[in-house]
This record gives sequence, C-alpha cells and structure tokens, in this order.
Amino acid sequence: MADNACDPRRIVNDIVIQHDAFRRMLQRMRSLWCDAQSHIPVVAPFIGETGTGKSTAIKAFVAMHPRKRTPDGLVIPVLAINTPSKPTPRNLAERILRALGDPRPSSGSASAKLDRIVMNMAAAQVRMMVLDDMQHFVDKRQHVALFEASDYLKELLVSYDHVLMCFGLSECQLVIESNEQLKTRSKAAFELARFDWIEQSSQDQFVAVLAAFQKSIAGFDLPELASPDVSIRVYLATGGLIRYVSAILSRAVRTAIDRDKSKIRLDDLGAAWSEEVVGANRDYPNPFRSGFRLNDLQTKIDLAKTIGQRVIRPTASHTREPRAVLAEVGL
Ligand SMILES: Nc1ncnc2c1ncn2[C@@H]1O[C@H](COP(=O)(O)OP(=O)(O)OP(=O)(O)O)[C@@H](O)[C@H]1O
Ligand SMILES: [Mg+2]
Repeated sequence: MADNACDPRRIVNDIVIQHDAFRRMLQRMRSLWCDAQSHIPVVAPFIGETGTGKSTAIKAFVAMHPRKRTPDGLVIPVLAINTPSKPTPRNLAERILRALGDPRPSSGSASAKLDRIVMNMAAAQVRMMVLDDMQHFVDKRQHVALFEASDYLKELLVSYDHVLMCFGLSECQLVIESNEQLKTRSKAAFELARFDWIEQSSQDQFVAVLAAFQKSIAGFDLPELASPDVSIRVYLATGGLIRYVSAILSRAVRTAIDRDKSKIRLDDLGAAWSEEVVGANRDYPNPFRSGFRLNDLQTKIDLAKTIGQRVIRPTASHTREPRAVLAEVGL
C-alpha cells in the first residue's frame, strides 16, 4: 500500500473507514490477541457476506502486528493464510509453510510437513493464525466440510496452541461444527453484516461511511453523498455493500482523472455503477439516472438487498448416499 500511497487513482481504494461494525470486529480480534498471548487455543469464526470488509479487517489487524526480523530470526505474531480454492492437507500445508518462509514448502509427506509447520510456528513465535475465505473448506455441491483438510487444521491446533481466526461466508461455520475438536474450542461467530437502510442505526452508519469517503476525495467536486437524496440512491445502487460503494467511487474518480476533470456528477456515478456492479442495468434500475423516482421505497430497498447475493448453483444431478456424506464430515 505504501508504494501506491501517493497515486491519486488509488485514493478511494486506500482509505479504510473505521465504521462501528468494522471497529467492533477489530476489537474482537484484539481481545483474542490477549488469549493468544496466554497460549489458549481458541477457534474464532468471523462471518459476513461477500464485500462487507472481512479481508480489509484482516489486513488492518495484520498491519498492527507486523513480521519483524530479530537476531533470533523472523518473528511472525499473526500468520495470515488465504485458503486454497480446493483445500487438501497437502496444498494447505504448503501454503502455511510458504507463509512461514520455509525454503522448500512442497517437500515431505503431509505429516512431515505438519511437524515442520509446528517447528516453524514455534520458532517464529506465531500466536495467531488467520484463515481467510474459509468457506472453501465446504464442498459447494454437497454442502459438507472437506474432512481431510479440516482435520488437518484440527491436528495443527492440537499440536501447537494458538488462536485460529476463521474468516469467510456463513458456511465456514459448518467446517467448525463438523469437527468436534474445532467445535469445542470455538467461540460464537462474529458477523460483519452489510448495511441495512431499514434499520436506523445501520442507515446512520452507511451515511457516515459515505461522508468519510467524500472527505477522502475532497479534491473532487461530487454531489453531497451523505445528503438524504443522494445517500438513498447510493444505498439502492449498492445494497449496502461497502465493496460496491468503494468500487463505484473509485471508478468515478479514475475516470475523472483520465478525462482531466474534477467534477463528478450523478450521471458519472451511474456510469461507474453500470461498470462495477454485477447485474447492473440487467437486474436493477439505475438509481443515479435523472428519471429514477424515489417512490415505493420498500420494494426498491428489498430489490437492492439482493445485490451481491450469491446465485444458488444447481446441485449435482446424482445424490450421494447419506453414509458417504456423514463419513466426509467425520461423524
Ligand atoms: N472499512 C472499509 N473502508 C473502506 N473500504 C472498505 C472497507 N471495507 C471494505 N472496503 C472496500 O470493499 C472492498 C471489499 O472488501 P473485502 O475484500 O474486505 O470484503 P470481504 O468481506 O473480504 O469479501 P469476500 O467475502 O468477497 O472476500 C475492499 O477492497 C475495499 O475497497
Ligand atoms: Mg475477503
């Protein structure tokens, strides 16, 4: 981030807004940090829909506990891992070893790798491991936890006392619930929800987020984002997902820079919305266009809440034997 800190095209991307839910999430992580200092093994799930800011919170937390070189070697207080898209003990172990700086992450059997992970974690004084996108441990078609990979996590947790923070979509809880040893160490999940216009305090937060974004791009002449007329349009355009607020504003700013302009009008936000939001124009009306009426708000809000929701994939044509599914979740 530091490399690009002065790039005006990145000003929206680089701002991190400490809204209430985001701050609460970081507070929860900080209190787990205290457990981690006492070597209490804990599993802590953090869930939220896509685009609510989970990975952004991880980045902020890791930045507070950076790696450092000491005369005794590399110290990694918080080890952050992105879950492979199809986790197996092998690719998971390799990823962890690579993050620990192991020179040959792919060598050795799964159990030899586990021993090396434990040794390296102890040497690097790792206190916490953060797993992002933990929903990848769930088989999408069968909706069951991938047993071998999640069992490997359990093995690691029982072999080396640390706090395991698991981030992902709500189904990552299934991974924890499917494994007795992860489950018995698990705290209640913390949820980072999208903003909800219908709930007054959430609406207030959303409007405050818009004001903070506007402040960060003060060099541009924009419509008053936090005003009643514009904020509801931004909400209807994004369904309360901060990812889309950021993406629309970032796109509008970059376009203005490329055209050598400092004025961004509602129409420009509409053009950015068309480019950035999945299903824009096809599934949703453009709330920034001049003819868009702010009537029948409840229906419009209900529709906006479907922005960014996952499309349910068709399930496999064959259904498996219940026994096989139970075996996979380890029961
Ligand atoms: N607190 C914040 N302040 C400013 N921008 C934010 C904040 N949180 C998220 N964003 C913006 O939203 C984008 C998406 O956030 P992020 O990647 O953290 O979401 P996520 O919950 O991890 O989504 P996914 O489940 O798809 O991985 C970020 O790239 C960033 O631009
Ligand atoms: Mg993420």
